[in-house]
Amino acid sequence: SRPLTILGIESSCDDTAAAVVRGTADDATVLSSIVFGQTALHADFGGVVPEIAARAHAEKVDHCVADALSNAGLALLDCDAIAVTAGPGLIGGVLSGVMCAKGLAAATGLPLIGVNHLAGHALTPRLTDAVPFPYLMLLVSGGHCQFLIAHDRDRFERIGGTIDDAPGEAFDKTARLLALPQPGGPSVEAAAKTGDPKRFKLPRPLLDRDDCDMSFSGLKTALLRARDGVIGPEQTLNRTDQADLAAGFQAAVTDVLTAKTARALDLYLALNPVTPTLAVAGGVAANMAIRTALTDLCTRRNTAFLAPPLALCTDNAAMIAYAGLTRFAAGEQDDLTLGARPRWPL
Ligand code: KG4
Ligand code: ZN
Repeated sequence: SRPLTILGIESSCDDTAAAVVRGTADDATVLSSIVFGQTALHADFGGVVPEIAARAHAEKVDHCVADALSNAGLALLDCDAIAVTAGPGLIGGVLSGVMCAKGLAAATGLPLIGVNHLAGHALTPRLTDAVPFPYLMLLVSGGHCQFLIAHDRDRFERIGGTIDDAPGEAFDKTARLLALPQPGGPSVEAAAKTGDPKRFKLPRPLLDRDDCDMSFSGLKTALLRARDGVIGPEQTLNRTDQADLAAGFQAAVTDVLTAKTARALDLYLALNPVTPTLAVAGGVAANMAIRTALTDLCTRRNTAFLAPPLALCTDNAAMIAYAGLTRFAAGEQDDLTLGARPRWPL
């Protein structure tokens, strides 16, 4: 199969991104990857505000595309196709990207390829390390938390996941409870460094269940109670309490993810004869405590562990370009009726 050059566009949450990827489904290279984060725009609101996100995507997406092409040293017509996240995500944001991609496709006649954002995350191990199918994937982000067996570029089997909040969401809410900045993941991780993870007894939900399902909303409530037990009359936390609560929370999430990953490996091996590579993706996979615990688990279980570079773990358009490349290489494409799908399970 000949090498393809694909422009990718991503705007499903709070990052506007564009990237160019070149190669084949088995050997692709990221030529450029631009990400405009919106963290500052949402900082005062304690979460992503859909209207603000959509407007910022609409404003930024053209610049992103221009920068991605210029960083790759290419013109749009040097590309073979345009791939865009068509869902799942915030409808306004997804529409901004889809409209941009459709405009470019209509103006140039280039093929248009709609991509599932989750497939983008789930295929990242093939982009970065050409991991062969099948492999086991733990997708942990602000909006998602699931174990997938990736059988093929378009065949993913969900074997478990959260029954309520995603862990990234829990990190973000924890940051709010502890008066730490957003996004919560990095700030809770930093605060946890000096904390005692054993001081507060926080729950490890669903570990008694013999499946790969997880729950993080009870942990949040338990953390709130623990905080209210130590908070001062001025409603301020001292540094030690803040660090111990952050460490306790991070340890609980790490324990749940690690124990359920062990179950997922068991389940995988019950269905497949060969030990898989375990790959992680999503923003929470940036957490060093979680990475270390998963690395140790995989060492004990004689399983290869793959954590892609951080910039390709969090939301980006290179994964969308690559997922689009695999669709296009297989002869698939969409037309200008491509719509945005806010809900779109894999
Ligand atoms: O994959 P991502 O960029 O966006 C989606 O949610 O799709 O993930 C963002 C999430 C946020 O909730 C953020 O707090 C979390 O990933 N995150 C982390 C860390 N860095 C980012 N969570 C824990 N530890 C981190 N170091
Ligand atoms: Zn994502």
